[in-house]
Amino acid sequence: VAPLKVGIAGLGTVGAEVVRLIETQARVLAGRSGRGIRVVAVTARSKAKKRGIDLRGVEWARDPMALATHPEVDCFVELMGGAGDPALSAVEAALNAGKSVVTANKALLAKHGIKLAKAAEKHGGALNFEAAVGAAIPVIKTLREGLAGTGIDRVYGILNGTCNYILTRMEQEGLSFAECLKDAQRLGYAEANPSFDVDGHDTAQKLAILASLAFGTKVAQSAVYVEGISSIAPEDLRAAADLGYRVKLLGVAVRTAKGIEQRVHPTMVPKTSSIAQVMGVTNAVTIDGEGIPPITLVGPGAGGAATASAVVADIADVARGIRANPFGRPIAQLRDTKKAPMERH
Ligand code: HSE
Repeated sequence: VAPLKVGIAGLGTVGAEVVRLIETQARVLAGRSGRGIRVVAVTARSKAKKRGIDLRGVEWARDPMALATHPEVDCFVELMGGAGDPALSAVEAALNAGKSVVTANKALLAKHGIKLAKAAEKHGGALNFEAAVGAAIPVIKTLREGLAGTGIDRVYGILNGTCNYILTRMEQEGLSFAECLKDAQRLGYAEANPSFDVDGHDTAQKLAILASLAFGTKVAQSAVYVEGISSIAPEDLRAAADLGYRVKLLGVAVRTAKGIEQRVHPTMVPKTSSIAQVMGVTNAVTIDGEGIPPITLVGPGAGGAATASAVVADIADVARGIRANPFGRPIAQLRDTKKAPMERH
């Protein structure tokens, strides 16, 4: 069988690690996929940057669009980020050309997920985005495949590694917000514009994706109430601690009598609760399913290696020929977010 030919747009921390994993895990991946996976072309802002990866024999495409429509590329991997162009047009073009797309871009999905899923549905390509939420934690697959037969009442958790890292270090070391943020950026956890992290938008984007998968509604970031952590000071955390609480930035999507409520805000959680034990860059997602005790997934939520792990798993699915409905069901079956009915479906 011919290898799957992959084109990667974006060679930052995540992109470089994806190239490395495809090489070092080649045998395992080929065993699982039944065929090889080969990076045939890439594109990035800087060609000269030292990345410590072997790109010999790999073509440099002129720009993301040229890569997305490259006749040799079967699977376009978008790791540039950003809800608009060049990511949006490139992903759309790849899907319209019948190619499969793997992306870690939660901003793009939260804003244009339905449009892109429609293009995937129409032209037959896969649209995989396990890395968009919780990095290495397989939460998309858990909701979409693992819990396909279970009605879901609530999904909530810690979805932004940068915020949890900042809150943890502020509490444990009494450091200032700004200092902790700088470290999170240095470690490669934060978004290019870190206000997306600290103002809660990144959590909102991830929550919108999870809510769509959990409740069969159309993904819509605009339906999420958002409040971030930028005004929290070490004294606030100390005051909460004196009362027996810890502050966490939570994303919560819940079925209510009025529809699917989606909110992101700092929350005081009892120190003894399991969510209070989630520290540092770790993410945790709890899913309350009908008739079963809650399921909690915990793991690294940001960083190059953790994100690349999920990207490569998604590429392996494309190589195997697995093609899921991106949001769990055909687009025509997804309900409007605001008018979601109360009965389980
Ligand atoms: N900036 C994000 C975070 C990266 O800190 O969680 C992973 O999506």
